[in-house]
Amino acid sequence: MKIEGKVVMITGAVRGIGRGLVDAFLKAGANRVYAASRNLEAYSHPDKRVIPLQLDVTNQESIQSAVKMAGDTQILVNNAGVLEFGNLLEADRDSFRRNLEVNLWGNLDMDRAFVPVLARNGEAAVVNILTLLSMVSAPGMSAYNASKAAAWSLGMSLRATLASQSIPVFNVFPGAVDTDMLAGVEMTKTPPAIVAAAIVEGLKAGTEDIFPDPMSQTVYDGWKKDHKAVEKQFASM
Ligand SMILES: NC(=O)c1ccc[n+]([C@@H]2O[C@H](COP(=O)([O-])OP(=O)(O)OC[C@H]3O[C@@H](n4cnc5c(N)ncnc54)[C@H](OP(=O)(O)O)[C@@H]3O)[C@@H](O)[C@H]2O)c1
Repeated sequence: MKIEGKVVMITGAVRGIGRGLVDAFLKAGANRVYAASRNLEAYSHPDKRVIPLQLDVTNQESIQSAVKMAGDTQILVNNAGVLEFGNLLEADRDSFRRNLEVNLWGNLDMDRAFVPVLARNGEAAVVNILTLLSMVSAPGMSAYNASKAAAWSLGMSLRATLASQSIPVFNVFPGAVDTDMLAGVEMTKTPPAIVAAAIVEGLKAGTEDIFPDPMSQTVYDGWKKDHKAVEKQFASM
């Protein structure tokens, strides 16, 4: 799809992958980027095309006021996410609830609120920032795995739902990225700016399922050949 001239709404945009996406969309020629976050206190962006916007994706009133402020949105990027560590048998039940509230219900509520906006604004798209852990589980992140697997399913349902309106849904499956979310986890991580640039390239190329970094591409290649082998590999992490 064409990014030039588009109006983009990015949730969780002030740090990590979201921050990278703001710059990647600007570089690709977006006309306006709504940079949404719960906390805008320390946020500013030198480019006048960026409009900071207060948004908590778990709060209906907050979502409705975002719809009012950003009624010209054409590309919705569901990037906001939380990760709480914990294994399936021991993690607090509330930890599952908190992961689901942002990673699943947040996407659902943003989709429901913004699809009517997208539908009246010309060429449009929804982009869901999922994870490899939507496809394969790592045992120490059970609540996150479950929320992101459900978010993948939601994204596929949305794709089917919007097919008749010709609004594409892009699902993105990053591997490990060097952001606050994985701070303290020792492993090879891709810089968020590189991941963000690859996501925007994927949109431009019309790639529905985007694997935006070397880890995600390698794991996906293995998953296509033998998903049980990848399941065993991740289970031993
Ligand atoms: N880092 C990785 O290795 C990795 C890998 C695969 C996928 N991902 C996914 O990439 C996305 C971005 O994560 P990140 O790595 O950039 O992590 P991050 O730096 O921790 O950023 C997470 C963002 O989500 C926002 N957020 C959390 N709860 C929210 C809520 N209730 N309402 C609105 N915004 C909320 C945060 O906003 P505030 O500033 O308001 O807290 C923050 O901007 C997530 O969906 C994550 O699951 C990350």
